[in-house]
Amino acid sequence: MYKNIGDVRQEFLNFFKRKGHEIVLGSTLIPNNDQTLLFTNSGMNQFKNVFLGIDKPLFRRVATAQRCVRAGGKHNDLDNVGYTERHLTFFEMLGNFSFGDYFKDEAIQFAWELLTDPHWFNLPKNKLWVTVHSRDCESYDIWVKKIDIPNEHVVKIGSNINDFCDSDNFWQMGNVGPCGPCSEIFYDHGDRFYGGPPGSLEGFGERYVEIWNLVFMEFYRQENGLLLSLPMFSVDTGMGLERITSILQGVHSSYSIDIFKKLISSISEIVQVNDDIYMNRSLYVIADHIRACSFLIQDGVIPSNEGRGYVLRRIIRRAILHGKRLGINDIFFYKLVTPLIEHMNHIAELLYASKNFIEKILITEEKLFEDTLKRGLELLEKQLVQLTGNILKGEIAFYLYDTYGLPLELTKDICLKRGIHVDQVGFDRSMIIQKKCTKASNKFDATCENISRCDISNIFIGYNELICKSRVIALFQENKLVNKISSEEEGIVILNSTPFYGESGGQIGDCGQLKTTSGVFQVTNTKKYGQIIGHLGIVKSGAINFGEEIVAQVDQYKRKNISLNHSATHLLRAALFHILGPHVIQKGSLVNDRYLRFDFYHHEAMQNKQINKVENIVNEKIWENFPIAVDEMPIEVARNSGVVMLRNKQYDKIVRVLSMGNFSTELCGGTHATRTGEIGVFVITKEYGIASGIRRIEAVTSDVALSIIHHYKMLLQNIFQSLQSDDKNVLTKISECKSRCRKLEKEIEYLRDKQTIQHSLSFIRDIYYVKDIRVLIKQVTNMAPKTLISTADCLKCKLKSGVIVLINIHKNNKINLVVAVTKDLIERNRINALDLVHCIINTLGGKGGGKPDLAQAGINNMVPISKVSIEVDSLLHDIL
Ligand code: SER
Repeated sequence: MYKNIGDVRQEFLNFFKRKGHEIVLGSTLIPNNDQTLLFTNSGMNQFKNVFLGIDKPLFRRVATAQRCVRAGGKHNDLDNVGYTERHLTFFEMLGNFSFGDYFKDEAIQFAWELLTDPHWFNLPKNKLWVTVHSRDCESYDIWVKKIDIPNEHVVKIGSNINDFCDSDNFWQMGNVGPCGPCSEIFYDHGDRFYGGPPGSLEGFGERYVEIWNLVFMEFYRQENGLLLSLPMFSVDTGMGLERITSILQGVHSSYSIDIFKKLISSISEIVQVNDDIYMNRSLYVIADHIRACSFLIQDGVIPSNEGRGYVLRRIIRRAILHGKRLGINDIFFYKLVTPLIEHMNHIAELLYASKNFIEKILITEEKLFEDTLKRGLELLEKQLVQLTGNILKGEIAFYLYDTYGLPLELTKDICLKRGIHVDQVGFDRSMIIQKKCTKASNKFDATCENISRCDISNIFIGYNELICKSRVIALFQENKLVNKISSEEEGIVILNSTPFYGESGGQIGDCGQLKTTSGVFQVTNTKKYGQIIGHLGIVKSGAINFGEEIVAQVDQYKRKNISLNHSATHLLRAALFHILGPHVIQKGSLVNDRYLRFDFYHHEAMQNKQINKVENIVNEKIWENFPIAVDEMPIEVARNSGVVMLRNKQYDKIVRVLSMGNFSTELCGGTHATRTGEIGVFVITKEYGIASGIRRIEAVTSDVALSIIHHYKMLLQNIFQSLQSDDKNVLTKISECKSRCRKLEKEIEYLRDKQTIQHSLSFIRDIYYVKDIRVLIKQVTNMAPKTLISTADCLKCKLKSGVIVLINIHKNNKINLVVAVTKDLIERNRINALDLVHCIINTLGGKGGGKPDLAQAGINNMVPISKVSIEVDSLLHDIL
């Protein structure tokens, strides 16, 4: 029976539901609270802390269909897309998970039953092959003894260097994190395709395709490479929905399944490409990339020059370049969002609401790329004009690629047409250097991982209390657990309960003091390590010891200001929504004790009128003095009541809903005022763009707002005083001052010119003759270009007949010279200022141009006046 992709997905979930699994929603593509990961790239990501034992599992058996992107980071398929039949940057991963419940036995049996049972996927058993880790005898025995699979179809995969982790059958999420041996299931597409069974030398071919990976999570890999046992044995499996669908639909390629066929066909219609569409690799790439880009934007990624945004930008650009290969010259990529939503109806409901937004972002990015590409091509042209020899440096080609998106192939093509080669080695070297830099900046936050893996927990009581008694339950220095932090040493203190707020949700961490009977620890910041709150700082006196009782006291003044700014941020967001529209979605925020910063999606600069309106609304709401109410409720209740939530954030099951009258309701874990009136006053200090389509507002509240008002008042008073004006006529006074200034500048310039020219007339006494022609060659310094020409003209009048050369030496040792020839000599003796200039630059180097009576040149090197006169004299001799 034909199964469409939606059926396959649903059957997988139904099967595991029957096996006692809770069906849980997939997370967004931006992993929550995980600095180690660029994008969600596997179903297990959202459960990482459960595998590690940091979070308690809500259910012991879970199944999901998780949207994943594998572009960038450890698991990166971007460069394979378009070259193989199975790689996709965006796909859905079907997975079943056991958290300390079943292990290898049931995991393997479940997989076999779903794949081969006639009621389920009903795949022929002889078409399936499996691999196990060479040291995982348990899995091998289960496959061979309990499962009805031919022995020779079970392949052991080891390591060339005898390292347990160095095997294709050892799965790890990253260089640090949960991991374990795995067993992979392959499907044999038959001998029509090239390739050998897994583990064989031809295993890389397209015949045997991996469909399902069963990972047995047993270990935690530390930064130093050592494996620690996890608190419980778990299972993490992942099966690519598109791959299994291709098998169930009897096609070999993921790009030939129902949704891709329809999508590719719509794309070829829109871009009017008529050739054999299913064989056209560029169409594959574009179809894959529109899926990845739309879902990434939907989940909150915006094209930019770093991190996730940079990867998104690369994917969009790759699609556009493939469009160009197909001969598309118009902006086209955004047009594909409509067919994407239409054909991917099994998950596209996610995209409906954001359709306009996704299209807008794509249009802006396509236009930007067109401009960038144009500039890149111009720059290449410039490089080629200046090139000496026939090799373009690889570093330059890499710069053009990295900064302007010029693909190496395009640069090579353009160069080849002019007989120029591109230095590939230099290009590769630059690429390696850049990759190393990226790797270094992605380095895992080991402190965070080490603290969050400790078997400790603490509670936050700082919504209501700012001081409390507590106990030291762990101390860290330089990433290691210690028993004591001594005087003047830095470290991290963990308490069993704390009033200190750990930096999160844009709100900075609290400062304050921790006091024991013998020591004082100055807290300079508070951070969250997973769920654990850590106090960072320095011991000011005595020492802090493990196990000690402590009094923890937050800096109240600072906290109060932070809270006021946080509450004002909520009012600001709501006001922006009213004034600019519902597309105003938060992109980021920072709340500290001095000011607040709010980044949001909006396509153009705000007008002053709009800024004033927003400011007015926020202040009105402050003066209405609403109580700021906090309610805790299940996430589903909050979602259904339309509370504002961030796109790319995953929330706990129970959430805090913060409301200010009926003006603002938002999910928020931060600290706040108790009534809006406490904010006092709100002033926007700046509004500017930080990336295409993203604006930033900075604002201040309460006494900081007042001091800013005072500051501007003082400034104005000083201005009034020095201009002897008041608020009514200050602007007129300023414009009067400006025009008077301009007039005086002009007068000074005129007088200076006059003086210089007057002085230059005395040059006449240095005239000499070449045959009967009068020649005057003089050196001057730092003359403005206009003055230089006027001087030459005046000398011409004074001389009546002759050749004048003025060499003007600038402060930076650059030289420009002007050559003037009187009319009579041009007509009678065919002496031409332009010829003289060319003759000078041919010998001395430089660039120049002009007319027969007046020509100019710029020369880069210092030249003695004698050299110029030799050139002039010899040319005159030649002519005369
Ligand atoms: N985490 C494993 C993978 O990504 C199984 O889901 O292959």
